[in-house]
Amino acid sequence: MEQYIIKGGKALAGEVCINGAKNAALGILAASVMTDDFVTIENLPDVRDIHVLLQAIESIGAKVERVNRHTARICGSTISSVVVENEYIRRIRASYYLLGALLGKYKNAQVSLPGGCDIGSRPIDQHIKGFEALGAKVKIHHGMIEAEAEHLTGNHIYLDVASVGATINIMLAAALADGQTIIENPAKEPHVVDVASFLNSMGANIKGAGTDVIRIVGVTKLHGSTYSVIPDQIEAGTFMLAAAATRGDVTIRSVIPKHLEAISAKLVEIGAEVEEFDDAIRVVATKRLGHTQIKTLPYPGFPTDMQPQITALLAICKGTSIVTESIYENRFKYVDELARMGTNIKVEGNNAIVNGVAELTGASVCAPDLRAGAALVIAGLVAEGYTTVEQIYYIERGYECFEQKMRELGADMEKVDSEDNKAIQKFKLKVG
Ligand code: EPZ
Repeated sequence: MEQYIIKGGKALAGEVCINGAKNAALGILAASVMTDDFVTIENLPDVRDIHVLLQAIESIGAKVERVNRHTARICGSTISSVVVENEYIRRIRASYYLLGALLGKYKNAQVSLPGGCDIGSRPIDQHIKGFEALGAKVKIHHGMIEAEAEHLTGNHIYLDVASVGATINIMLAAALADGQTIIENPAKEPHVVDVASFLNSMGANIKGAGTDVIRIVGVTKLHGSTYSVIPDQIEAGTFMLAAAATRGDVTIRSVIPKHLEAISAKLVEIGAEVEEFDDAIRVVATKRLGHTQIKTLPYPGFPTDMQPQITALLAICKGTSIVTESIYENRFKYVDELARMGTNIKVEGNNAIVNGVAELTGASVCAPDLRAGAALVIAGLVAEGYTTVEQIYYIERGYECFEQKMRELGADMEKVDSEDNKAIQKFKLKVG
């Protein structure tokens, strides 16, 4: 198995370029099958989740052409099945966006029920509520969700939870329904807005994405489009916090600073300097930073996908911080791994009491999920000595060339095979 090996202690410095947003790209790729014309999607991140969804799209008969690492051309005219096999759902939950896309286009779709995962149970009741409100009959049998409708009619849908997935899935199905659909209490994340913008570029009529009410007027047909995915807010935020944790000076390029406001505000609050440019943001920290309170909330609040990373940063700051996870019921599993590096964090329910320590020591740790894995890397970058991070396939689901980008910022970090002692020794000799 591959692992990251890190020798901590280097301040990150220089520039890093952010890739396209994974969580926008997944919804956009699913939406691309809703037309029989060709669609070109640019600025795709070259990460595992994208590869899996493209395989799922190909598995139902669509044409998929990888123009280059970051561009795909898709045509849904040859789709021969509306059944998305478990293999794809098991590997990435977001394959369930094909439910909304295929239901919208063919009025029929079957997708395996996504399981829970390491951060919570992750039900899909709001997705189903939306499909049924549009007139679909939804059945769950043999581990599959089957949604079908004579035709789909717009409706007024109030989401009990501002769910990103449900908002996107309902938008997909409603785009080709008859009449107007109103979604109240929708998710407002930048990636939700990006999926709506993409659908509109295909001829859909969606207004209000990113606000408290989304209005969709169904159209009869969608046409081809060429579209570029927005920058990844979470990848950018991860590098911002890594720069602050290592007391570095990093300019993060190809970002939308507005999407990063919650993270920038917290960095300034604890004593880092943040400078915004049109499509870049610079983070500088020259001293040990202070404590704060974090509560994860739907956008524009502090993103839950940044919670492990900021907890890792606060673990080495002065004073005691409180981190409250209000989105998921089980997103502090990584704290036990951080403890192996000398952190002093007590988890009580959905709160983590983070008593800052002056320094961490390197250890062998295991990534329990994607964002927790990134948090362990941040801790490894500041820990004294060597840290190895196992199960990095989680991290590679959402971060393109993570260790290479960190190395280009001055980190002593490589990806090695955990059985390859020679490579590990070579790394240790090289970095000293
Ligand atoms: C998306 O997941 C992201 N994944 C997650 O990012 C992110 O953590 C999450 O949004 C919240 O921002 C993708 O976009 C592929 P939700 P999603 O539906 O859509 C509850 C990452 O690291 N809920 O907004 O599954 C649910 O239990 C991943 O990139 C219901 O109760 O999240 C959770 O508590 C991890 N019923 C809350 O809503 C439903 O029908 C938020 O879930 C749906 C959700």
